Amino acid sequence: MIEINGLNKNYQAGSQILKAVDDVTLGVEAGAFVSIVGHSGSGKTTLLSLMGGLTSPDSGVVSIDGQDLWRLGHDQRAELRNRAMGFIYQFASLLPTLTVLENVLLPTMYAKGKKGSADAAKLLDEVGLADKAKSFPAELSGGQQRRVAIARAFINEPKIILADEPTGDLDEDTEAEVLGFFRHMNREYATTFVIVTHNTALAATTNRTYRMTGGRIALV
Ligand SMILES: Nc1ncnc2c1ncn2[C@@H]1O[C@H](COP(=O)(O)OP(=O)(O)O)[C@@H](O)[C@H]1O
Ligand SMILES: [Mg+2]
Repeated sequence: MIEINGLNKNYQAGSQILKAVDDVTLGVEAGAFVSIVGHSGSGKTTLLSLMGGLTSPDSGVVSIDGQDLWRLGHDQRAELRNRAMGFIYQFASLLPTLTVLENVLLPTMYAKGKKGSADAAKLLDEVGLADKAKSFPAELSGGQQRRVAIARAFINEPKIILADEPTGDLDEDTEAEVLGFFRHMNREYATTFVIVTHNTALAATTNRTYRMTGGRIALV
């Protein structure tokens, strides 16, 4: 499902070259439930955005479903990303002028085979926010906003979910609910998950864990 080969991404840090992602090779098969752990600054977010085609690598290959992301044109890459992948960013990124329901529906604007309000409402129910559909993001707590962003990631029924510390600001009960929901989607629809987390208990529930250290990756 995801094939990464010899991937490198450098940033300029003053006069130094910083290897944010350093020669990473890994494969994530369809239906896998995988976690990535590592200290802050070890390259987890950079790797996830490379996987999702949001950041271009300096060298190496990222293939999704057999398609080399950076051999596709801009529009094809955007289309693949929108159709096949759901993103849960480290910081909830909701549009403040749209309601909760409209935020969940946002990714459907660019997708074929449109999902509608009923689908968005169902997802909001699954993340425990059925009564907040008409609220605006500013009226929600940080944890609730986070759950809206989680619902939004699933609206186009993606084959892959890339999640960057998705439960970082949730209380324990809500975290357990969200993880239960992820597992449900993984078992029921074979959705592939790659989850970056600081939470070792969460990592322990996944089928495979990688650790990043200074841009390099290794199986735990
Ligand atoms: N856009 C950027 N420009 C410059 N340096 C960056 C950029 N993004 C990340 N970095 C650097 O790359 C390294 C890895 O960052 P990141 O992938 O965010 O790590 P993590 O998610 O594990 O905390 C850090 O040293 C960070 O400062
Ligand atoms: Mg990060």
